[in-house]
Amino acid sequence: MHEPLNVADFERLAEASLEPGAFGYFAGGAGDEQCLRENVDAWRRHRLRPRVLVDVGEATAKTTVLGMEVSMPLLVAPTAFHRMVHPDGETATARAAATVGTIMCLSTLATSGPAEVAAAAPDAPRWFQLYVFRERAVTQNLVEQAVEAGFEAIVLTVDAPRLGRRERDLRTGFRIPEDIVVPSVAAAVGEWTGATPLDALSRIDPTLSWGDLEQLVAASPVPVVVKGIQTAEDAHLACEHGASAIVVSNHGGRQLDAVAPTAELLPECVDAVGGRIEVYVDGGIRRGADVVAALALGARAVLVGRPVLWGLAHGGETGATRVLELLRDEIELALALCGCASPEAVTPAHVSRIGGP
Ligand SMILES: Cc1cc2nc3c(=O)[nH]c(=O)nc-3n(C[C@H](O)[C@H](O)[C@H](O)COP(=O)(O)O)c2cc1C
Repeated sequence: MHEPLNVADFERLAEASLEPGAFGYFAGGAGDEQCLRENVDAWRRHRLRPRVLVDVGEATAKTTVLGMEVSMPLLVAPTAFHRMVHPDGETATARAAATVGTIMCLSTLATSGPAEVAAAAPDAPRWFQLYVFRERAVTQNLVEQAVEAGFEAIVLTVDAPRLGRRERDLRTGFRIPEDIVVPSVAAAVGEWTGATPLDALSRIDPTLSWGDLEQLVAASPVPVVVKGIQTAEDAHLACEHGASAIVVSNHGGRQLDAVAPTAELLPECVDAVGGRIEVYVDGGIRRGADVVAALALGARAVLVGRPVLWGLAHGGETGATRVLELLRDEIELALALCGCASPEAVTPAHVSRIGGP
């Protein structure tokens, strides 16, 4: 096969190299996987509206998120268990993000600890994704580990009070291999007991509510980004309770299957926020053109989950770097061909929706 040229090529290679149970865990979604498919398809229902005779001689994808400089409006989404994809785990992903000049969000369920990841890419800005545990001392300990290791934002995931029902994992009888541990949780809890994804998430607090967000914001020395917003109502509440940004996300179709794809949720969330805080989106982004559509619909940036894992599966750090480089090149090209010299130049007039207003 030729060198992989895009995210889909990397996905095929990852499927061929990963053990089927592991591939199913990373690729799969909840229920009938309708949301998983729709997340991808919904971006394709958007069409870019290029403007011409605009000087794009110096076109760049560079932008900022929460005031931090990034080489493109695309960050690495938090995903669990990178050592199941490649033995170098999250340290390889962190180095890839650093090389390409973007931010990696380290999952609470990462197989490399915050300090190890910081040491692997010391100069890159990094964010820490937080699941709130029933034992609040554990949560506190995780935040401390992250802040001490120089993580500059907490990404609080709010769409997983329970784990979605992922039937691929049930069919394959997927179990997390015994040598895969989560050092930050092991350090905070005293042990790691995660034979299945359900075990791994069993300590997460399903009673979490808006008051807890407010407390976290008050106690956190770094900004708090709320990840997993799907409605205008909650986008508004996130602003009211002190979030510095939101991620419009349905967890990559892994939680509730009967929800809308994020491309369709984004406009109402952007409207509700009304410019008070930054809005990011993830789910199904596979091409630079999808990113430009997201910007036109009002996102400041996007996150990608699986594409980076497919890169990591194919050559560790090198593969993850290549996927991020390809996406950055695609974003730059799509911007230039739309007549936008920078992400900030993208406006709502740069997108239309097939059959929509
Ligand atoms: C294998 C896998 C593991 C994930 N683990 C986490 C996690 O630990 N924390 C979290 O907030 N989101 C997690 N997510 C959701 C991602 O952060 C992100 O919302 C999603 O992958 C975006 O969709 P995409 O994969 O289509 O880009 C995970 C997603 C996948 C595919």
